[in-house]
This record gives sequence, C-alpha cells and structure tokens, in this order.
Amino acid sequence: MGALADKYGPIFTIRVGVHTVLLVSSSEVAKELFTANDVKVTFRPALVAAKLMGYNYALFPFNPGGPYWREARKISISELLSNRRPELLKHIRIGEVETFIKELYKAWKDRKTVEMKQWFSDLNLNVLLRIIIGKKYFGAGAVGDEKKGRRFQEGITMLFHYLGTLVLRDAVPFLGWMDVGGHEKAMKKTARELDNVLENGYKSMNGREYDCRQWDCYSCYDMGTRIIAGQTVSIKKGPAIVKETLRLYPPAFIPGPRQFTEDCTIGGYHVPKNTWLMVNVWKIQRDPRVWPEPTEFKPERFLTTHKNFDVRGRNFELLPFGGGRRACPAASYGLHIILLTLVTLLQAFEISTPTDAAIIDMTPGIGLTNMKTTPLEVVVSPRLPPCCYE
Ligand code: HEM
Repeated sequence: MGALADKYGPIFTIRVGVHTVLLVSSSEVAKELFTANDVKVTFRPALVAAKLMGYNYALFPFNPGGPYWREARKISISELLSNRRPELLKHIRIGEVETFIKELYKAWKDRKTVEMKQWFSDLNLNVLLRIIIGKKYFGAGAVGDEKKGRRFQEGITMLFHYLGTLVLRDAVPFLGWMDVGGHEKAMKKTARELDNVLENGYKSMNGREYDCRQWDCYSCYDMGTRIIAGQTVSIKKGPAIVKETLRLYPPAFIPGPRQFTEDCTIGGYHVPKNTWLMVNVWKIQRDPRVWPEPTEFKPERFLTTHKNFDVRGRNFELLPFGGGRRACPAASYGLHIILLTLVTLLQAFEISTPTDAAIIDMTPGIGLTNMKTTPLEVVVSPRLPPCCYE
C-alpha cells in the first residue's frame, strides 16, 4: 500500500471484490477526514470475522456503528476505562509485573537469555484472565491448567489474525458459501475455543451461567484482549521511547476499515456513500516531510523538534490510536500499561541482544495488529541487589 501511495499519491481508490476502498496516506487528508467529515466515517463495514468471532457484532469495536455501538462505547469508557476502574484493578497489574520481574530473575540465573515475546504474552494473559475470571494460567501462583491457558493464548493470536483478514465473503458476498481456504470454518473453531475457557472461568468465578450475550462478559473479554494486543512495544525519556516506538511500529499499520455513510468530498475528490476507507498510518508516520530520517529510531526527537506532538489523535501526523470519534478509547490506559511494564523492566535489568550488534528483526505478521513474527531473544542481567528480586 505504501508503494501504491508513492505511485498514485496520498489519496486513491482500489477495488476489493464488489467494494471500492479509499486509501489515505497523508496527514493533510487524514485531518480533513477526522475533523470536518468525521461524523460520516464512524461506521465500519460488517466483516465476517466480527460476526463469527465477535458474538454477531456484539463486540463493539467491530460493530458497524449506530445506537448500539454508541451506547456500548459510552458504558465501556465510564465503567472500564475511567480512572476509577483501572485504579481498583491496579493491584492485579502491579502484582503481575512484580511476579514477572522475579520470574525473569530466576530465568537469568538458569540461562541468561530469555525470549521476551512469550514473557510479555504470558504477563498480559495473566492480567487479563485474573481480571475476567479470577485465575491465571502461567508462572508463579498459577491455578489454571497451563495447557488450557496455552490454547486460549493461541486462540487470541488467531482472533487478531482473522480480525485483520478479509475473506471471500467480505469481498464478494454472494460467493461466500464457498469458504475458499476454510477461513470461516477456522474462525468458528477459534470462537469456540475462546468461549470455552471464558465459560468455565466465568461460571467458577460468578457462580452463574455464562451467556455470551451478557454485555459484561464480552466487554471485559474484549477490553482484555486489547490489553494483550496493545502490548507490542519492544520514562521524561520513557514517553519519548514509547512515542517513537508507536511511530515506527504502530500496532495497527492500517487500522480496521471504516465506511462512508454519506457522499463526501475528500482531497478535492467526490467519494460516494458506502465506499470503504482505510488510513495508512504506517505511511503517514514515516513521511519524510514531517519526520526527518523517518526509518531511524530516534526517541530524542520527542524531547526536541517534536516535543509537542501528541499520540492520542490530536496531531494527524501521528495516529497510532487512530483518529476522530471512533479512535481508541483506551489510549491513556494503554500508554500507562506500556510505561509501567517498560519502566519496571528497565529499572530491574540491563537488556541487550545476544551478540550486542545484532539488528532486531521486526518483520510483522498478518492480522489486525502487526505482531512481530520472529522470537525476541535478549540477554538480561540484574541491575539491583538480589534482595530486590525475592
Ligand atoms: C498501545 C496500545 C494501543 C494502541 C496503539 C491501540 C490502537 C487502536 C487503534 C488504531 C484503534 C482503531 C481506531 C480507528 O478505527 O481509527 C483502536 C480501537 C480500539 N481500542 Fe485500542 N489500542 C491500544 C490499546 C488498547 C487497550 C489497552 C484497550 C482496552 C483496554 C483498547 C480498546 C480499544 C477499543 C474498545 C477500540 C474500538 C473503538 C471503537 O470502535 O469505537 N485499546 N485501538
């Protein structure tokens, strides 16, 4: 998509089956979309993955839009993301990060090298499942069956993989019955596996039947999976490191598509109602007109030349959380969790790559979030006296 933007400019259309998709790759056009035209682009197309794995569109981030989406988003913000709720659940996050540090210390004693992707994923899943069903599956203090936890973890990876995949039915609805590649079948299987862990856990915690139509179940579950998805990052200096990471590697290179609900004029072009919209955040955040040496990791730019740039959608040159009224409602919360983990980790350990000069392979996988495909092997060594890890 980036190469197409170099050839055709910051605004052009492509065909995806029966749909026309408007691709936007500049901050100027993004600003035009998310200010004057925002109300016309709050809907998302009704994709197959959201139906089959999102409880028939009940997971509101994937709900097309309208009164249900508005109400669910409002309740989530006030009940789950407002300052009060994260404050009440603080002990779980802090407790798990502390356990994580102690376990890393033990690993260091055994073998010095650790694979961080698995560690971050385990940490996040522990936090998520403690919040939703009151038990954790990995590491010290685990009460759940680890095998079951691993299956759930794999299910979440598949969930995000498929949420970022357009299948034949999305592109050409009347050919959907063919299910070429068996993606729909695999989505239904993923949905069953995730549901299974949640159902048992929910029953044992709440003593009542789990019903996937209950709003509190799936909203908690959804928020939790996002905590996991958001954790792709590798503080005055801390925030700068996090901002620069989110600039170079936004978790969603092209956030979930939107759909125009009215005819519009964007960048001087007429855009008819029902056109799909995709914003290439990756391209915008590497625009050399705004970001000198765009492919270099230079956190110091956020302490000097770009110190007033905000990541929460106010600057259209930096949109890791998306833009407009459908942007991520958990930007502050997400940033807080990343900082907590990063700062604790950096305080407790020196971290380097096994050969020190090795370049880290950041090749992303396919899916809604750009999960790094290869393992992240690092050498850790403690910075604090042993008593701090006991
Ligand atoms: C670094 C962390 C995170 C990043 C970069 C991020 C990024 C995003 C992006 C790009 C979108 C799509 C916005 C659009 O369509 O324009 C989004 C949506 C969303 N995010 Fe996040 N997110 C993060 C963490 C979280 C966390 C921790 C939660 C919840 C606890 C969360 C909850 C949501 C929800 C509910 C939506 C859907 C909003 C809607 O459709 O109305 N995110 N996020």
